[in-house]
Amino acid sequence: MSKEFKQELAARASQVEKYLERCLQLEKAPGELQEAMEYSLMAGGKRVRPVLCLAWGEMLGTSTKDILPFASGLEMIHTYSLVHDDLPAMDNDDLRRGKPTSHKKFGEALAILAGDGLLTQAFTMMLKSSFPAENVLAAVGHVAEAAGPSGMVGGQCMDMRATGRESMKIEDLKSMHAMKTGALLRAACCSGAILAGSDPDNGKDTLNAHNYGSNIGLAFQIVDDILDVTGDETSLGKRVGSDESVNKSTYPRFLGLEKSRDLAQAASDEAKACLNDYHGPSKDFLYMLAQYIVDRAS
Ligand code: IPE
Ligand code: IPE
Ligand code: MG
Ligand code: MG
Ligand code: MG
Repeated sequence: MSKEFKQELAARASQVEKYLERCLQLEKAPGELQEAMEYSLMAGGKRVRPVLCLAWGEMLGTSTKDILPFASGLEMIHTYSLVHDDLPAMDNDDLRRGKPTSHKKFGEALAILAGDGLLTQAFTMMLKSSFPAENVLAAVGHVAEAAGPSGMVGGQCMDMRATGRESMKIEDLKSMHAMKTGALLRAACCSGAILAGSDPDNGKDTLNAHNYGSNIGLAFQIVDDILDVTGDETSLGKRVGSDESVNKSTYPRFLGLEKSRDLAQAASDEAKACLNDYHGPSKDFLYMLAQYIVDRAS
């Protein structure tokens, strides 16, 4: 991973963080709720989803300033999903982004509410975007579908049901990963394209964003599963071995590490091929991002 890429990723993540900080200050939530939302949202994190939205939008002509509120909303949805994913009733984890999980710090009730607050505030932010209303509506619709029962929430439900299984068909594992993690990453790319003016259903750029996002989404969760086996707790900021301790249905468990790595690389390569029509710095960044998702250590 080149030094330039790392610097650019950090610079884009920092733009998102500054914006998020400002938004949180504007909310008039009860103090303890505000604190719990901020605790998880501002605890670091790679900010991959907003960065994808920014890069797709910018590659297709939007300015950073215009697309930043929408992109930041995606990070709120993602953070809510992590807070709820860690709950005792779900993965029962006690470390996230290098800190005690929300329910460990604030108790379960406030953790649930902080997640609810982040999810809902995300939509307020996305709807404030200053693009033509029809683009905003289509992009928000895309994200809502991806985050909901036929996307992330549905995938999390499949994950719960699959936990403890002795074996699983590769197609089922793939669709579970595509829903629980792929859907939001895909929507991050598609919403960037849609806000930039690409037709939501048939636009060439929306379709390329869809295919790029689906492939990196799959690669992202395969690598997440791999890192749970091979990763380092300090750099990951979450426990390793957490999946195995509860018999999660993961790629390494059913296919082994090597085959899992090959599949993640193949998905990343397919994502790169979706960028063939484009040129310029954002295209180069998205190309390197597709590889970063496979090579990352955190
Ligand atoms: C972790 O997501 C959960 C998955 C969907 C795999 P990230 O690896 O993007 O976590 P942060 O945002 O960097 O903490
Ligand atoms: C989480 O998958 C997917 C979400 C939608 C949050 P994991 O349960 O594997 O994520 P981590 O490993 O806890 O971050
Ligand atoms: Mg989980
Ligand atoms: Mg988890
Ligand atoms: Mg995991």
